[in-house]
Amino acid sequence: MSKAQLKAQLKAKIENKTAQVGIVGLGYVGLPLAVEFAKAGFTVTGVDVQADKVARLQKGESYVQDVPNSELGPLVMAGRIRATTDFAAVSNLDTVNICVPTPLRKTKDPDMSYIISAAQEIARYFHAGMLVTLESTTYPGTTDELVLPVLEKSGLKVGEDFFLCFSPERVDPGNPKYQTLNIPKVVGGITPACTEMGALFYSQALQTVVPVSTSSVAEMVKLLENTFRMINIGLVNEIALMCDRIGINVWEVIDAAATKPFGFMPFYPGPGLGGHCIPIDPFYLSWKTKQAGIEARFIELAGYINGQMPHFVVDKVQNALNDHSKPLKGSHIHIAGVAYKRDIDDVRESPALDIIHLLDRRGAKITYSDPFVPKIKVDGVKDLTQHDLLPSARQADCVVIVTDHSQFDYAALLDASRLIVDTRNALKGHHSSKIVRL
Ligand SMILES: NC(=O)c1ccc[n+]([C@@H]2O[C@H](COP(=O)([O-])OP(=O)(O)OC[C@H]3O[C@@H](n4cnc5c(N)ncnc54)[C@H](O)[C@@H]3O)[C@@H](O)[C@H]2O)c1
Repeated sequence: MSKAQLKAQLKAKIENKTAQVGIVGLGYVGLPLAVEFAKAGFTVTGVDVQADKVARLQKGESYVQDVPNSELGPLVMAGRIRATTDFAAVSNLDTVNICVPTPLRKTKDPDMSYIISAAQEIARYFHAGMLVTLESTTYPGTTDELVLPVLEKSGLKVGEDFFLCFSPERVDPGNPKYQTLNIPKVVGGITPACTEMGALFYSQALQTVVPVSTSSVAEMVKLLENTFRMINIGLVNEIALMCDRIGINVWEVIDAAATKPFGFMPFYPGPGLGGHCIPIDPFYLSWKTKQAGIEARFIELAGYINGQMPHFVVDKVQNALNDHSKPLKGSHIHIAGVAYKRDIDDVRESPALDIIHLLDRRGAKITYSDPFVPKIKVDGVKDLTQHDLLPSARQADCVVIVTDHSQFDYAALLDASRLIVDTRNALKGHHSSKIVRL
């Protein structure tokens, strides 16, 4: 088959939804994506290295909060989604989206091992006429410099025999308004033909597609978005520290500033950054730019300020107890919410883990409540299981609101607590000498 025929064939399969779609990495990003393509009428094969996830999916059982069993189950039963640990499935696929983790190493360098290993496994079963798209957040140049060489070992030529793109994932777990389907999808290819194929593919299942000129532009888009957020949170955390020092309520300041109809966008302070994106992704950018001789100074500074927030919260707790003539050592501190943000079950990089670790080091006795997180492991601390909020609050010397889940009854919590440190302004509108705000 000629190269032109190969391209026309893939286009036709995508357009008439007979393309066999593959998703490598079935986590918070990969599983919702698999569901959207299955709902759009494609047959989707998920590949993951975790056998337990694959087994649950094969039974139609979801482990991702944003994907209800009622949605997944019928798609699995109808054969629209299947899952396997065997990469040999790639032999029969027309498209593959890579959604594997991109964590940082302890040294804050990117850990590319998951992307490399996924690309190498795909390469073993790679064939002409495929579209491969990397979705994992990463530094600009990854698709071109890391993934392309692995696939080109096949002897196939990008933009002609196969198509390679980067498309950043912007999913916001727990967001009821914006989900995989209606979040605009940016896509950039190694060549213009790759971009065209990638855009055609996503437009079959997602509402809005935003093509950009190259994969590196698409990689940089994601890092701009997350760096913007991280730096603005760093700024507002620093403003919170200033307001605390001079005795001004930072929350009132932000609410009033947010009434400006132009030129201001509110960001809110908190106990520290959490999740798998905002605390991590900007360091992918700073790592890359360092190699080009540019220090990413805003990123380093915001990283430092955000990293200080758990310490600031623990100091607040200690000072609040001392004001009531109690030492932190030996006191019972109850943490309300340990997920990294409201109404989700994810504790990755959650500031609650740092706060618990620091409180434990200072000799406090710790319990926690979180309707989404039945148990947690914290470095150096004995494993904790979740307790009911109000009985624990009644027993505690101090309650710390770390995650403002909407299920918590804040009026009852205030009533039950002797002292309450509120890092999220969850007690907005309540006035009591028991409340210590960030
Ligand atoms: N979670 C989010 O809110 C979010 C949002 C935007 C972007 N991202 C980015 O998307 C990517 C994936 O994140 P996630 O939250 O879905 O991670 P996750 O840990 O929930 O899922 C990743 C999955 O990949 C699997 N995996 C690991 N190595 C593999 C391999 N070699 N082959 C096949 N499967 C493999 C894991 O078993 C896991 O199931 C990351 O780069 C992340 O930064 C995440």
